[in-house]
Amino acid sequence: MPTALVTGASDGIGKEFCNVLAERGYSLILVARRKKRLEDLANRLIKGFGINCSTISHDLAKPEAARELFDSVSEMGLSVDFLVNNAGLLQNGFFKDIDLATQENMIMVNIMNLTALTHLYAKDMAERRSGHILNVASLAGIMPIPNQNVYAASKAFVLSFGRALHNEMQAQKCDVIITTLCPGYTATKMMDNPDQGAKLAIPIAMMQAPRKVAEEGITGCLAGKDMVIPGIVNKIYSIFAGLLPNKFLIPALGRFYRANMTPYQ
Ligand SMILES: NC(=O)c1ccc[n+]([C@@H]2O[C@H](COP(=O)([O-])OP(=O)(O)OC[C@H]3O[C@@H](n4cnc5c(N)ncnc54)[C@H](OP(=O)(O)O)[C@@H]3O)[C@@H](O)[C@H]2O)c1
Repeated sequence: MPTALVTGASDGIGKEFCNVLAERGYSLILVARRKKRLEDLANRLIKGFGINCSTISHDLAKPEAARELFDSVSEMGLSVDFLVNNAGLLQNGFFKDIDLATQENMIMVNIMNLTALTHLYAKDMAERRSGHILNVASLAGIMPIPNQNVYAASKAFVLSFGRALHNEMQAQKCDVIITTLCPGYTATKMMDNPDQGAKLAIPIAMMQAPRKVAEEGITGCLAGKDMVIPGIVNKIYSIFAGLLPNKFLIPALGRFYRANMTPYQ
């Protein structure tokens, strides 16, 4: 039975990645901070699909978190065939008003530990000449977004890094697929989370279901794609955003975000 490790498995798109992978016969290692939620999901997946499922409560905002996680998985005698780097943090608001430690946490989770886990597992998979890595970026990564500036920049990093690495791994013929997933607005807690500074009022009709996002991501990665934009609306949006010059796009996005952003009290 192949094994998949999913970060940010306790909620949202991450939980759906686990459902999709369990349905496809993967054993799972679930990683996030909230242990109880991970254990409840693991019990449900074990009962529902007869798979093996382990949980690791781990804070990916800590500098050594990726190495510690990799070592814990090795000590459990497990190897990872499919890594999903899904855990992510978002902040809405004005850069100077969001404290620096919060921004640094976001960079640590969204960039530093995603890169470190990709490095550790890309090497490990290349030695075994088999593996899949799915890194979760965002449509926010294709353009600079005022009032979500660090988040959008962190996702631009994930997108650029992943697409370039896909090509390198192909060139080295090591049978490791790197895929970058770019969801648009998706109906999860990330769309309304008091820890994120402000709520962005997006109509539910404009949001994709997390299950659809997860399915397209896993299917695309198993098919060897370098990038997946889930849903036709998001694909069309990405084409238009690519056509508009930044000098028009950035002010328009800034106006949209400020008009639709309400700070949590
Ligand atoms: N929702 C959207 O509209 C949207 C759009 C584009 C891209 N994305 C991306 O999709 C991914 C999943 O987002 P989501 O919408 O599913 O968000 P979510 O519902 O808020 O879930 C985030 C997950 O990340 C985990 N996490 C957060 N901080 C962590 C930390 N320090 N250490 C370990 N785990 C941590 C959370 O678990 P714990 O709290 O238990 O640690 C949770 O399981 C993110 O990378 C996000 O940027 C989301």
